Amino acid sequence: MTHTTVHHLVCIGCGADEAQPQPDFRCRACSNLLEISYAFGGTDPASLKGSWQQRHLSQLPLDQSGVWRFRELLPPVPADFVITIREGNTPLYELPLCARLAGVDRLLAKHQGMNPTGSFKDTGMTVAASVARQQGFRWVACASTGNTSASMAAYASRGGMRALVLIPEGKVSWGKLSQSLDYGALTCQLKTDFDGCMRVLNELVRRVPIYLLNSVNPYRIEGQKTAALELMEQLDWWPPDHVIVPGGNLGNSSALGKAFLEMRELGLTSRLPRISIVQAEGANPLVRSIRDSGGKELRPVRAETAASAIRIGNPASWKKAVRVLQATNGEVEEVSEVEIALAKAEIGADGIGCEPASAVTLAGLKKLVTRGFVRSGESVVLILTGHLLKDPEFTLKFHRGDLFAGTPHEREASALVSQQRAPIVLDATVDAVIAELQKHEKLVF
Ligand code: F0G
Repeated sequence: MTHTTVHHLVCIGCGADEAQPQPDFRCRACSNLLEISYAFGGTDPASLKGSWQQRHLSQLPLDQSGVWRFRELLPPVPADFVITIREGNTPLYELPLCARLAGVDRLLAKHQGMNPTGSFKDTGMTVAASVARQQGFRWVACASTGNTSASMAAYASRGGMRALVLIPEGKVSWGKLSQSLDYGALTCQLKTDFDGCMRVLNELVRRVPIYLLNSVNPYRIEGQKTAALELMEQLDWWPPDHVIVPGGNLGNSSALGKAFLEMRELGLTSRLPRISIVQAEGANPLVRSIRDSGGKELRPVRAETAASAIRIGNPASWKKAVRVLQATNGEVEEVSEVEIALAKAEIGADGIGCEPASAVTLAGLKKLVTRGFVRSGESVVLILTGHLLKDPEFTLKFHRGDLFAGTPHEREASALVSQQRAPIVLDATVDAVIAELQKHEKLVF
């Protein structure tokens, strides 16, 4: 065994202990989601920090994983079953240009797009896919907007399992779709949206022995927690004032919140950051829920946004996310299509880049500063969830100036011109290149 933490699967609604969960990971009694709860007794924070630091020097795959390095805070999986592609270990970057644009003194980005398959999904997938393997499943499956499927396909293949991917036809970027194909998944494009794919999958897992790897699977959430642990280690265990995260199916915000609450319980920190969640205006069911009912009810919406990763109208983990907002005094914010596109190019101009769904964090931060919720002297960490190369089509269209052509956002999009850097076609001569350079800066030579 990797370690011996005692854990239970508990319903977040009625508290029932579900030692043998149903295939859709919902409580038998009240249909709420499950979460993993630990009995952490007697764990010394200083020795935990010391072991985690020590493992940076180890050559063992389990220690080199930025997820399993924190295994004392994860459910135990025997080492032989663990599937790792050295996920986690992602950088924390300064974003000086974006800080100025947002109106804060200092801005950091934890870039989860630097994971092996290019998104934060790998941190959760290593745990949940390992559990599937330990339980002897031959097939695993997910519904996805593209990143979960890319990640699941990779981990399933590495672990000798077959992967079934259900994605909405025409609504997944080519980069993500091609990953799923190359990693060997059976990839089905369903004629519906993400929420429709999820409905089909929930029914499917009740009928056939196939293991569900969406973030309703509580083991996914446990792995995703480690981004917060790693962030705290990178900040020498001083929590930032604010963490800002995109909201789609709402698993990631739930995971980060759970991590900070457990860190406080364990004495790894005494203070919590405020965790705020940002959604696209066209896919904003959580924002509406908070606004209309204080988070008591959630009415699904028909989702539409070019940030296709978060094009989700009926988020499964919304109750967990509401708890995180309440426990950390966080806020919700919504941002427009043009605001997302602008923020994405600004993160790119800081030399970092990310996919559109990740850029909602910067767009949301600007609004939270304007509202006075984030003050200029406070420390802020954006969670960038996916790599720039996940969606090159969006980026090319943006720089060519036709991202919003023929859409209702066309007029508003004139604000984007200063960030557009379309490629220039020139004659193949030195003079032509020098003439072009001179347009940008007077060179002396
Ligand atoms: N950012 C990216 C790049 C994502 O791929 C997702 C979700 C999110 C943010 C939102 O995270 O769902 O935990 O709130 N992508 C899922 C998928 C739905 O299928 O890849 P969430």
